[in-house]
Amino acid sequence: MRVVHITDLHGETAPERLNPGIGGVLADAATLIRAERPDFLFVTGDLTSHGSSEIEELRAARRWLDALAVPYLAIAGNHDLGANPWRGERHPEQERYDPRPFADTHFGQVFGADPLVVTDLGPIVAVGMSLRAGDPDGVLPRLEQALADAAKPTVLLGHYPLTATRSAGVLSRFGAGDFIPDLVDSLTDTIRSHPAVKLYAAGHVHVVSRQPVGPGCVQLTTGGLGPGASAYRRYEVSAGRLDYSTHFGPGPLSFWERYAPSEAPFSPEYHLGSPFERMGSVSLALP
Ligand SMILES: [Fe+2]
Ligand SMILES: [Fe+2]
Repeated sequence: MRVVHITDLHGETAPERLNPGIGGVLADAATLIRAERPDFLFVTGDLTSHGSSEIEELRAARRWLDALAVPYLAIAGNHDLGANPWRGERHPEQERYDPRPFADTHFGQVFGADPLVVTDLGPIVAVGMSLRAGDPDGVLPRLEQALADAAKPTVLLGHYPLTATRSAGVLSRFGAGDFIPDLVDSLTDTIRSHPAVKLYAAGHVHVVSRQPVGPGCVQLTTGGLGPGASAYRRYEVSAGRLDYSTHFGPGPLSFWERYAPSEAPFSPEYHLGSPFERMGSVSLALP
């Protein structure tokens, strides 16, 4: 079975103001992804840049995904569903915080009323989580329940990396910290106490990385398909293992120059990872 993992598309409705030209990049990306002939898609958030404040961007993202004609599991990123009130105050257009129940948020209205989605894909089970600080939607207790009777290797999808993706530079500071600070430890503990969780697939950082979450679980992030570093993952799932490879998208191959100019230039590996981070295997063997 082939799964393609994409993240951080950051689509915008016209006029494109954060990433001018992003619509063209995503149109080209759709062609690339269709050519992969995937059986399934993982979409780990930030489908839009302003979906938290403009529902039409999320509707456009959904049309883009539906047009691929591949079944998918999509979760919200901080641009699709504001992660907390303090960021919402600082960034009201990009990360508006909606205090209403998840089903009433823009993301809930467009992508479904449930912030926790469990999908049986045959050899693996995929569990998608759309998280907010304080867990007002009650995702974590339900995740515990869902994992308690996990009988198959499980892939967990979350927007925010739980382990820092780089040891230096901007990404040693930017991760889950200012978004879901109170959930990181409990989510990490949950993963560590359920050995069926073999892969935590995430986004948010716009780089290709591989880090351990615990002794039996690997965290993989991939680049920001739209704004950069433009990349996607191909996961070939077979008995007992998942082989991952990384492929360039049609957008820029860097990203952080714009947001941490004092640290520029970044090495290509800062954005695209080491060879081991780009290609390798994750064991799906259950204890
Ligand atoms: Fe993003
Ligand atoms: Fe994000």
